[in-house]
Amino acid sequence: MGDWKPRTKAVHDGIRRSQYGELSEAIFLTQGFHYATAEDAEARFLKAGEDEFVYARYGNPTVRMFEDRIAALEGCEDGFATASGMAAVNGALVSLLKSGDHCVAARALFGSCLYILEEILPRYGVEVTLIDGTDLEAWKGAIRDDTSVVFFESISNPTLEVIDIKSVCDLAHAVGATVVVDNVFATPVYSKAVELGADIIIYSATKHIDGQGRALGGIILGTQEMIRGTVEPYMKHTGGSMSPFTAWMMLKGLETMELRVRAQTASAYAIAEALEGHPKLARVIYPHRPSHPQYDLAKTQMEEGGTILSIDVRGGRDAAFRMLNELEIFSISNNLGDAKSIVTPPAATTHQRLPQDQKDLLGITPGLIRISVGLEDTSDLIADLTAALEAA
Ligand SMILES: Cc1ncc(COP(=O)(O)O)c(C=O)c1O
Repeated sequence: MGDWKPRTKAVHDGIRRSQYGELSEAIFLTQGFHYATAEDAEARFLKAGEDEFVYARYGNPTVRMFEDRIAALEGCEDGFATASGMAAVNGALVSLLKSGDHCVAARALFGSCLYILEEILPRYGVEVTLIDGTDLEAWKGAIRDDTSVVFFESISNPTLEVIDIKSVCDLAHAVGATVVVDNVFATPVYSKAVELGADIIIYSATKHIDGQGRALGGIILGTQEMIRGTVEPYMKHTGGSMSPFTAWMMLKGLETMELRVRAQTASAYAIAEALEGHPKLARVIYPHRPSHPQYDLAKTQMEEGGTILSIDVRGGRDAAFRMLNELEIFSISNNLGDAKSIVTPPAATTHQRLPQDQKDLLGITPGLIRISVGLEDTSDLIADLTAALEAA
């Protein structure tokens, strides 16, 4: 496609039209494809061409449109769409790693990502070293000559730690390791992961890409060689592919993603500013507020601070729960990046599984609340939060 700006790419890139010339992307709700002859079937199984498909688990025209569109937006050569964000994290890590390999990862991760690293990979003989991802010395100490994969969330869930993507990529590449970045919180709108050196970028499309709370999905992005040569063989044979109907929703989500994310970000910044210094709060965490410990890095690495902030309510679990139960606009739920504003108490939900010492290490206090800011009116959201804080 042309040398377009992101908003144009998000509407037009990757389009494939049928013989009817439909304007809106078609949903190809088919698991299989018809071959004109047996020779045709044989040839396609041997090597399917650019617009040839074999079976929806391997690929589908609607899914391919989504893969091409998001790859163009991210500045990557290719992508493989998955059934969920976790299928993308698991798919990328497992397709890259084998028994005897060493993987270094930041400790501050979404609960399910941590489960893969701590519980699943070691079962198959992968050695995993977890470190404080904000400490470059810790990365230097942990990355070894035989390290093959480095993994981190560029902004961690839920404490919003910012990882120095370029410095970690430089350290990893010096020993030939592949860097896998879970970029969910940065969103494709503010992502600079490719230019900073990331080899594989992962999104849970469930978040800002759909952005309307309708479906689970994910995407693994990278070079064509990495995606088609390493990731696709694992994904297509193990069944974590995205469905065509979901891909269509995600294509529609991409069309409005930048407008939504920019509006949600402006509200998130305004809320962080309004809540900072509130007497009922011990902390307000937002990457683009000067109070964030990695403010300078966040400013250079991300054009804006994103749609999520976290607050720490004084008085712990009981005070936080009293506040949550008073909210009228914010929903108590656990998605993020949605048009609807959502509040999540991570210690009680997404990170409940973690033992107390790990929660302490990660700063996941009982009073911590992750706030995903939606598309509602900013002043209504601030009024809802400040009124509920009275009950804390
Ligand atoms: C940083 C991060 N990575 C991965 C995921 C998993 O995405 P999904 O729920 O689509 O599997 C999440 C979900 O919250 C997340 O926050």
